[in-house]
Amino acid sequence: MSLWIVILVFIIVVTLLALYGTALSTARLFQPDCGVRSRCFRLCFLGVLAVFVIISVLLKVINAVVIFMHLAFFLLLASILSRLSRKLLCHQIPRAAGFTVAVILAAAVLSCGWYLDHSVVRTDYTVTVPGNAPELKILLFADVHLGSTFDHDGFADHLKSMEQVKPDLVVLAGDFVDDSSTKEGMVAACAALGRFPSRYGTFYVDGNHDKGYYGTVRGFSLAELTRELTDNGIHVLRDDTVTLGESYYLTGRKDLSEEKELHRGRKSPAELAADLAPGRVRLVIDHQPAGQALLAAAGFDLVMSGHTHGGQIFPFGYLGLLSGAIDQVYGHKIIDGTSFIVTSGISDWAIRFKTGTRSEYVVITVRGDGTGTGTSPAVSADTAGKAPAGASEQSSGGGV
Ligand SMILES: [Fe+2]
Repeated sequence: MSLWIVILVFIIVVTLLALYGTALSTARLFQPDCGVRSRCFRLCFLGVLAVFVIISVLLKVINAVVIFMHLAFFLLLASILSRLSRKLLCHQIPRAAGFTVAVILAAAVLSCGWYLDHSVVRTDYTVTVPGNAPELKILLFADVHLGSTFDHDGFADHLKSMEQVKPDLVVLAGDFVDDSSTKEGMVAACAALGRFPSRYGTFYVDGNHDKGYYGTVRGFSLAELTRELTDNGIHVLRDDTVTLGESYYLTGRKDLSEEKELHRGRKSPAELAADLAPGRVRLVIDHQPAGQALLAAAGFDLVMSGHTHGGQIFPFGYLGLLSGAIDQVYGHKIIDGTSFIVTSGISDWAIRFKTGTRSEYVVITVRGDGTGTGTSPAVSADTAGKAPAGASEQSSGGGV
């Protein structure tokens, strides 16, 4: 059974339990001893179902599921606390009070989740690498899912605020668009991205959503997206490596979905590293944080990823770790000297809430530790916009 089927079955079961629990709690407000066969329960279940449908229409089914999951959780918690209070303290908490507090808590958590999802903050990391490489400031963002929490105008506004970072290069680590993005929005967003000023330019890799492979028909193809990106001076890396000055390599991987879902394959970390000369810092963009041991073994210094949305809804994001689908949910970790940074994304896909994480863009400062031979500083004068002053192609797999 594929992971997607397991997830789907899980969501259906949890949703039914959440609807059942919410309806039962509501029914017992009116009739404390009512059972699931009572008329009162049936009416309440129909009412709850109607609210679920309305929220589904307004915010999509998945958000209705998230809302009722939280509501049912807090109603269950209130019920457990009420029973404990009755047994241990001989104090009966009024049912209406427990219900009200549960609704308020669910609303508070979801309101925070909505805010954390729709507001964007800056997160900074410093990565130290062996050698004498000059300092490199990277602006990393991922999971734009254009048209989700913001459209192309909103994206342009975020780019404007990110300009204050003054990065040496910009990394867009996949899921720039998805099946719901419009062609008009995609074209405008590519143009805005192409105007972003940085020394080495903007580098893009595919995410699983960029290819539009989830079955729905959208208004543009991957080839059209690629053309808009390249026409605006954005470097599309698909198992390609470019050099940045004399001190850095930047490799962009094809997405893991090329292997898993599409069965077309992609280069392994060892194959990607095979042609790289020693002495330069090796940076990688890989949309999904998976196969990290192989990337570390291949000798890369820094791997930048997105895809996880920081776990999205706590604690469900960590199911990906348990299933083995990903190796990291969020943040910075080091394996055998290789730094792995996973961003929670600047936006969102279908779910409109983030709990336990928040939307962000990331600024990574890479600097040499002064050991070994390293390479001499090789920073050219700042150039505005899309001119990739210090970038040159090392190996090609198409797209750049
Ligand atoms: Fe993704």
